[in-house]
Amino acid sequence: MYENSRLILDSANPPEPGQVIWRSPSNLAIVKYWGKHGLQLPRNPSLSLTLTASCTDTVLEYSFKENADQQIDLDFYFHAEANEAFRAKILTFLESLRPQFPFLSQLKLTIRTGNSFPHSAGIASSASSMSALALGLCSLEDALFGTLQDAEAFDRKASYIARLGSGSACRSIYPYAAVWGATPVIPDASDEYAVPVEHLLHPTFKDFHDDILIVSTSEKAVSSRAGHALMEGNPYAEARYAQARTRLSVLVDAMRSGDLETFGKIAEDEALTLHALMMCSNPSYMLLHPNTVALIEKIRAYRAETKHPVYFSLDAGPNIHLLYPGAIIAEVRGWIEAELKEHCVDGWFIQDWVGEGPEEL
Ligand code: PMV
Repeated sequence: MYENSRLILDSANPPEPGQVIWRSPSNLAIVKYWGKHGLQLPRNPSLSLTLTASCTDTVLEYSFKENADQQIDLDFYFHAEANEAFRAKILTFLESLRPQFPFLSQLKLTIRTGNSFPHSAGIASSASSMSALALGLCSLEDALFGTLQDAEAFDRKASYIARLGSGSACRSIYPYAAVWGATPVIPDASDEYAVPVEHLLHPTFKDFHDDILIVSTSEKAVSSRAGHALMEGNPYAEARYAQARTRLSVLVDAMRSGDLETFGKIAEDEALTLHALMMCSNPSYMLLHPNTVALIEKIRAYRAETKHPVYFSLDAGPNIHLLYPGAIIAEVRGWIEAELKEHCVDGWFIQDWVGEGPEEL
């Protein structure tokens, strides 16, 4: 999809040097994507909330290359420092995108990027970074060829390209919430790209918080890539994929009607299912930390006591995502300060919320 051999620059009429800049957020899946096949295609549909504070800024500078070789010429800076490991990864990704962006080898490219949070700490840095890069590449195509003027077509291509970089990144393109993966519940949903579902949301979910309680900032022992691969031999895999399909349909109804209780039940069940799948894969592994479990117990006790709709989720890491509506922010923040912070690294939590999605700067 999106192969286009006509996107080649005319060397007799080279473009002026320029740059594009995107800020793109992370997202938190409520129904999780875990297990893939083919070229980054999901085994089940997923639904995520688009975050705001946890984001990546990516500057893509370009100029027409003097020599006509077929190499992709890339310099890469992460937090203002040249980073060879990231450069090599991104170069491999750009090489794989030659069919979609054949002009890349005609340019000298410099990427300057940085996150608002630590990478590889289970805060889905790949989602924000790959979506920011995909948006930058689509802006670059549009700047050079004017081929992505239509906003919907632009977003869809950006989501498709982001998916090739990191599956979950395809959902970060859209404000508030997105669904990725074919499901009868959302007629235009696809395995190839995410679609926006903002129009389906009850207002409750548009004023919604996700405070990320940082239990650990160390790199994950097992990458998401390896985790997805282990689903292939997991004895519960087929039952899991069927469960995710059912949960997605129940979740969409709950988010339409503003049913926080059903939403929260699914969010927590999905978080624990994700980690249970890791624990029962072969080899087994565990990304939870004792403080993750301590926080889960406190959240459940607080909810039982106060009846406040506060729920937890987890990504592929030990950090807790605390989910709650804007209406109870004062109470919840007071409780975090008084009781939850002691389980976080240096008392650190990220105040994040569901928001408008990526922004061109
Ligand atoms: O996008 P990947 O390949 O890093 O996988 C991420 C999967 C989870 O974050 C654990 C779940 C999800 O749907 O985002």
